[in-house]
Amino acid sequence: MNAVTPPIYMDANATTPVLPEVLDAMLPFWTERFGNASAVHSFGRRAKGALETARVQVAELLNAKASEVTFTGGGTESDNMALFGLLSSGDHLIVSAVEHDAVLHAAAALEATGVSVSRVACDKDGIVQPEALEAALTPQTRLVSVMLANNETGVVQPVQQLAEIAHRAGALLHTDAIQACGKTPVDVRQLQCDLLSLSAHKMYAPQGVGALWVRAGLTLKPLLHGGSHERRRRAGTENVPGIVGFGAGAAAARQWLSTDGPEQVGQLRDHLERCLAAHIPGSVVNGVAATRLRNTLSIRFDGVLAEELVIALDLHGLAVSGGSACQSGAVEPSHVLTAMGLSTAEARSSVRLSLARTTSQAEVDRATAIVVAAVERLRSR
Ligand SMILES: Cc1ncc(COP(=O)(O)O)c(C=O)c1O
Repeated sequence: MNAVTPPIYMDANATTPVLPEVLDAMLPFWTERFGNASAVHSFGRRAKGALETARVQVAELLNAKASEVTFTGGGTESDNMALFGLLSSGDHLIVSAVEHDAVLHAAAALEATGVSVSRVACDKDGIVQPEALEAALTPQTRLVSVMLANNETGVVQPVQQLAEIAHRAGALLHTDAIQACGKTPVDVRQLQCDLLSLSAHKMYAPQGVGALWVRAGLTLKPLLHGGSHERRRRAGTENVPGIVGFGAGAAAARQWLSTDGPEQVGQLRDHLERCLAAHIPGSVVNGVAATRLRNTLSIRFDGVLAEELVIALDLHGLAVSGGSACQSGAVEPSHVLTAMGLSTAEARSSVRLSLARTTSQAEVDRATAIVVAAVERLRSR
């Protein structure tokens, strides 16, 4: 890499930078506009006002009511709050095999407390088939949790159809929309879901802040016990600067979604996908036949180990992520890719490139050249 060439960031599904206008909105809430939103004096009332403005901004992104939005400490907490808030021993939970660990590990923890858990498979394109959900439902099923879009492949699930099926069986539907929000329009009324998780840092707002949308009328057991914050749904002094940033990020996302920005990102991703496939023999796009988030490309290169490729790309100024997780020193193939029927070798040769709103054509062209050269080098060793 040329010393003056800035590295290219193609890992927007991992996290996104805070937008300048989001940072500007947050800054005063650490300094001159500080306050505890529970306090009755003017400092507290000002913080509370900012919190409620952010709640409206997040609700507007989802076509929801502000009173249905509870702020949390991030997406993982939102997912846990949905599952632990609804389920008790004797209940049945259905999750898809391609959920994020925030859902899968929460489900496993609930299983240890007497909740029975079914994990429904997806097809080779990563889609949860409605028939598979139908077959897993029982009279005890209280909740179905299926994500809106997958973090590794971008594959979008037929959540509205799955919600209808769950409802017909008397169950509720939670969707982890953490990757979808801010990248594609999300409307809770259209989706007909009952609970929806989102996370600020996937939409150009700070890390460590999230929200759970809960349909009006539904009551959850709180995860945290303490004060009566967030209408007794989530105890603990609110992270006012972070939440203000989340609100500003949601407003910016809404604005961006109304422009041709998503289409442009989609065209860049498609161009990247075509160029890599054309220049690298033995490359396969994971989930290619499915509807996918327009910014996400999961691609495998035969004979290449993703963990080596990720390092090689980083050394040449391209930040992407591998499709595998390092667990206690051993590299495990991605559970998402193996659920789609990929062999261990195929899963371990997959990388994810996820474009940001700011990714340019020049960056895509440079990234293509970097990947083509790195794959060639690794294959010729
Ligand atoms: C689909 C999905 N769910 C949950 C999470 C966890 O969110 P957070 O990082 O805000 O805890 C992530 C983060 O990568 C995600 O992609």
